Amino acid sequence: MNPLSFDRHRRLRQTAAIRNMIRETSLKADDFIYPLFVAEGENIKKEIPSMPGVFQFSMDRLGEELAEVTALRIPSIMFFGVPNEKDDVGSGAYHPHGIVQEAIRFTKESFPELVVVADTCLCEYTDHGHCGVIKDGDVDNDASLSLLAKTAVSQAEAGADIIAPSNMMDGFVIAIRAALDEAGYQHIPIMSYAVKYASAFYGPFRDAAESTPQFGDRKTYQMDPANRLEALREAESDVVEGADFLIVKPALSYLDVMREVKDRFNLPLVAYNVSGEYAMVKAASREGWLDEKAVVLEKLISMKRAGADLIMTYHAKDAARWLNQ
Ligand code: PBG
Repeated sequence: MNPLSFDRHRRLRQTAAIRNMIRETSLKADDFIYPLFVAEGENIKKEIPSMPGVFQFSMDRLGEELAEVTALRIPSIMFFGVPNEKDDVGSGAYHPHGIVQEAIRFTKESFPELVVVADTCLCEYTDHGHCGVIKDGDVDNDASLSLLAKTAVSQAEAGADIIAPSNMMDGFVIAIRAALDEAGYQHIPIMSYAVKYASAFYGPFRDAAESTPQFGDRKTYQMDPANRLEALREAESDVVEGADFLIVKPALSYLDVMREVKDRFNLPLVAYNVSGEYAMVKAASREGWLDEKAVVLEKLISMKRAGADLIMTYHAKDAARWLNQ
């Protein structure tokens, strides 16, 4: 008999078959929401320098990309708009024929099986680059709410299946819920960016969406990365206001927050694996410093393990390809 007494964890790691049997979480193409940038103009397929493999598409080139997405059995996409003109109230965000509204209409006509998520924010459409309207040098919360609500209704009218507000104004969920209900869209769910940190990891996205704030930063509305309890308060407000899904963003540096939100609130949880997290892996893999496939699959499964039910990720096409192999 063995004189020493200790646990033999390696018994369950002996073969690939045994490891498969005891695997606790899984990753599949069904988990992904793929973000897409639609630009006003013609014949545009423009790669984002800091996001290799991610492009701005004009409407006439969008079909090619959506065909690939559906062939890979990714069930859902999310749109961000890159308009030609911006103004101080972000009118392009709620124009009935705005770039995102048209992209949604096209998608629902040509690829009706795709679940279309609309990001509801003003920052891509304002000339100052902030997520709401400006008063006395700061974003005015309540004045922004009505414009965000208008944006959500116009996206639902265009056929969006899910409204995903990312603006971080207080009360945005209840304001949008009320407006959707009044317009007859009681059945359209709200996927709320409940916990969104003021993160340096959004850098490449702001190149892609051309939405860098022209003055100041987003720290008066996005959260301080040092805070955990505040994240729970943010999530709680959104649950009370009627959110149907909760998003935690970014993902990798905030897996602890994700787990806590998942344990506390009984709603589907979404991880947003943001642009900077994508760029880091792409850059290191290009240099040959990381094994891209292994690293991407490892980080995506970490989000599932942390409690995410769904993942918004620019890696979706690559990951789906690897998973379908
Ligand atoms: C818009 C918005 C941003 C992201 C998603 N929606 C940018 C921001 O808040 O600056 C970032 C996504 C990413 O980095 O991938 N408010």
